[in-house]
Amino acid sequence: MKNRILEDYKKQFGIPQIYVKSPGRANIIGEHTDYNHGLVLPFAIEQAIGMAIGTNNLGKLRMVALDIEDNYSIDISDLSFVTEGWIRYFINSLVALSYNQDSGIDIVFGGNLPQGGGVSSSSALTCGFLAGVNELFDLQFDIDELVDLASQAENGIGLNGGIMDQTAILKGEKGKALLIDFADFSVKKYQVPPTEYKFYLFNSGQKHNLVETEYNTRRATCDSAVRQVMAIDPRVDTLRKMTASHVANILDGETAKKRCTHVIEENERVKAATKAMSEGNFEAFGSLLSQSHNSLSQNYEVSTPEIDYLVEESQKINNILGSRIMGGGFGGCTINFVKGELLGSDVEKLIKDYKTETDLDLELYEVKASDGVLVELL
Ligand code: GLA
Repeated sequence: MKNRILEDYKKQFGIPQIYVKSPGRANIIGEHTDYNHGLVLPFAIEQAIGMAIGTNNLGKLRMVALDIEDNYSIDISDLSFVTEGWIRYFINSLVALSYNQDSGIDIVFGGNLPQGGGVSSSSALTCGFLAGVNELFDLQFDIDELVDLASQAENGIGLNGGIMDQTAILKGEKGKALLIDFADFSVKKYQVPPTEYKFYLFNSGQKHNLVETEYNTRRATCDSAVRQVMAIDPRVDTLRKMTASHVANILDGETAKKRCTHVIEENERVKAATKAMSEGNFEAFGSLLSQSHNSLSQNYEVSTPEIDYLVEESQKINNILGSRIMGGGFGGCTINFVKGELLGSDVEKLIKDYKTETDLDLELYEVKASDGVLVELL
């Protein structure tokens, strides 16, 4: 990947100054908890985007997307938030950091991260680019500031997202899952299960269309539930501090109750899963993933009939110890915790049955906990 990108950069623009490897992320458990001051357990994956970056004295931001053979150039003095297309990740990153250097920037990127496959390719682009530009101009942003800038760049696009993805991508470490607590932004690293156990992503082939509107609606429901509880019990200024009894006794409306119940119980599942993982209790660990799916489907209502079917069928496979929808929802991937190897016959049957039921093509790939963004001065 790296050679191909550097070669292409040379052909188009000359010698780059920086090479960045920016991974995607998987999330073991803890979904829709990050923007509710809760707990998550993600890791950066090996599949990544590579980018070569350098300066030009033409006052242009010139961008080349190697894999889709597309390119775009814009005056660097003329940047404002863009809402469409892959160029928005670069442009919005520069807007977020109030770019004010005289030099133009050239970038060539490509890689093996499935786009729109639920592994946060958008955050990989913004985090990687921001980390590269930070190094290129010695801007001295620390990692937490880069997380915030990447989040601003992506929120400029319309999704009022949390910062789990950016944190995992920038702080990931090989072999470690990150227990991130968004009550105080602390990160604790835990050894992932031994190599006999594997994580597989099953890409449902369903594009998450509704994600922006529905995601923002979920977030707004949680925020207004907190306001309602806080009016009666002022200690509850975040959903993290809400209890089942607040839900039962104060909250109005079935929808708000279901959403908050998911978040409260999901935080407990993250704690239990981290404990089970550290103690080597992998049956219990897997079962927590499946419980998370039920709640995401029934209480948070971010699954789809196709993904519910996929999860149900996956859970029937003997050595899949847990399966659930991953990420924002409404399509994308499921994450599956597997003991040993997946049998060819099981995989073939799953792909075939899924195709018959949904007319969609399933793709499977293994993900391993890897280092976060790596920036190299060339
Ligand atoms: C998306 C967002 C994350 C997180 C998940 C749901 O991936 O980018 O911040 O909220 O959805 O857990």
